[in-house]
Amino acid sequence: LLNAIIAVVASYLLGSISFSIVIARLVKGIDIREHGSGNAGATNTIRVLGKGPGLLVFVLDIAKGIAAVLIGRLLGPDDLGDWTAVLSGLAAIVGHNWPIWFRFKGGKGIATTVGVMVTLAFVPALIAGVIAIASIAITRYVSLGSLLFAAFVPLLIGLIHYSLPLLLVSLLLCVFAFVRHRTNIVKLVQGTENKLGAKKGA
Ligand code: G3P
Repeated sequence: LLNAIIAVVASYLLGSISFSIVIARLVKGIDIREHGSGNAGATNTIRVLGKGPGLLVFVLDIAKGIAAVLIGRLLGPDDLGDWTAVLSGLAAIVGHNWPIWFRFKGGKGIATTVGVMVTLAFVPALIAGVIAIASIAITRYVSLGSLLFAAFVPLLIGLIHYSLPLLLVSLLLCVFAFVRHRTNIVKLVQGTENKLGAKKGA
């Protein structure tokens, strides 16, 4: 059990490394949370710093989600089954959203959720990813794609019959995503949400 606790804590600390904050500081000496939408994530990095840094943040935030699950798998005792890996993934997303290194003001957790879910439930993540990318390509609303991804993953996990821990945590992650996107949801409804490629802040 000690190993499982170490995996979860290490994943939280890893998830707390918010790459949009780190890269915006390194590249431009700014706090990304004071620019654009104010969100510490890949979408806002694209908005504020451009495509290159934004994609780099996206890849790194995904990578830490993958790494967290692998840490959980490596350290998790057999008798806990999936639980260590699933809770380690969850811990990375909690770290991303509420980072200990950055006064607990982080991002919305979608890129890290992508990394976690691709590792834990590849087929549901792939299908949800295709739906998300298609919706973003059509509407240019990244937030809409993010919400669709977060909603379709647990739905597909339920349909394809993965483990109970995975179903429960994917549902919780869906709740996280909707709570973190509440201002985006209001703007989507009002028709004032930022579109990808539009320069205006939020
Ligand atoms: O995952 C974040 C994205 O869905 C929205 O980001 O900066 O437009 O609020 P932002």
